[in-house]
Amino acid sequence: MAKAAILGYGTVGSGTAYVLQTNEKEIEKRTGEKIELARILDIRTFPGDRNESLVTPDFDEILNDPEISVVAETMGGLKPAYEFTKKLLLAGKSVVTSNKELVSVHGPELFEIAKEKGVKYLFEASVGGGIPVIHPLINCLAANKIEEIKGILNGTTNYILTKMFAEGVDFDSALKDAMAKGYAEKDPTADIEGYDAKRKISILASIGCGKYIDPDGIHTEGISKIDKTDVEYAEMLGGKIKLMGFAKFSENGVTCSVEPSIVHCKSPIFAVDDVFNCVTVTGNAVGEVMFYGKGAGKEATASAVVSDIIDAVMDKSLSFPAGYEIADKSPMLPYGETVASYLVRFLKESEYNMEEISEIRKEDSRVLEAEDNEFAIITKEMTVAELDKKLSGYKVIKIIRICN
Ligand code: HSE
Repeated sequence: MAKAAILGYGTVGSGTAYVLQTNEKEIEKRTGEKIELARILDIRTFPGDRNESLVTPDFDEILNDPEISVVAETMGGLKPAYEFTKKLLLAGKSVVTSNKELVSVHGPELFEIAKEKGVKYLFEASVGGGIPVIHPLINCLAANKIEEIKGILNGTTNYILTKMFAEGVDFDSALKDAMAKGYAEKDPTADIEGYDAKRKISILASIGCGKYIDPDGIHTEGISKIDKTDVEYAEMLGGKIKLMGFAKFSENGVTCSVEPSIVHCKSPIFAVDDVFNCVTVTGNAVGEVMFYGKGAGKEATASAVVSDIIDAVMDKSLSFPAGYEIADKSPMLPYGETVASYLVRFLKESEYNMEEISEIRKEDSRVLEAEDNEFAIITKEMTVAELDKKLSGYKVIKIIRICN
């Protein structure tokens, strides 16, 4: 029998306990071993909860229990999750986590400690909630040179965008709803401003290129500035606006960003609504593959946490994501080197030279006009730096990336 503990009895922690206990028999059948939930760390008490007696506010009770071999860290944030994780790994316990902030900021150090100690630090639940994407990326796509990873990486903002623009719900009600459903972070600014998606794309990009990508350097825009006119333009183009994470790999390095983007109805990403996330990976051998499922929520995320607990107990997965190391020189390229096509909204009042604008307009694309005082074009594919140069001197209302 293996004994497990959980740090944090919030949405994901209580979901982890629920899945471990509800599916106990199935898990035992698959692992050949019973996994018993032995302790839960939380400063709160949970009178009447089935696991009330397992809850302790004392971390040392878990750290010093020699029978506990695997711990699920579902606290989120850096403090005290970083310190606790480090201590547990150093004490020879495997740790599995849903904490994208911790993995994206301190991953290289924690993986190194796990490797030295011969234990696991697994993080399937840190990206895409319940979607299996980390293991497939590391294991099943190992034969490929990864060319691109992109996707909808935040359930809360996808839920908000869907409610607002498909159902006409206002922003505050949509956010409240996402919070009540347990999708949002403690501070939902991390969702809305794209920081959560930035951490997730940094994890995926690090695996994709085999070197650590620091989330701090990733160009990040959230959804707070998206307005009805942006949505109208997206609809005119047969698309929808989604908050997307992008990582594109080349010989020179990686361009990486999080930005609201127009996704065309012919793309499979177009249909990814509500709390659902998707990640598409393009490998040089396999072509494009897509992972889809619930990106947030109690049981969905717990599914990934518990599968990592099972892996840790069975000792069957990679203990260390190959290449998640800090390089002498970061492989991340400046945002200006990102190549894409963009929707550019111009204010009509400014002086504009239509001939000059036509030079950057995509062939066969129309000039669009959603409001009387403005117009918009779709640009050819070019770098952000080139686009900025071409647009200098113009009154630009907004620039939105087109997802290809
Ligand atoms: N707040 C996150 C989201 C939770 O909405 O996607 C899952 O990481």
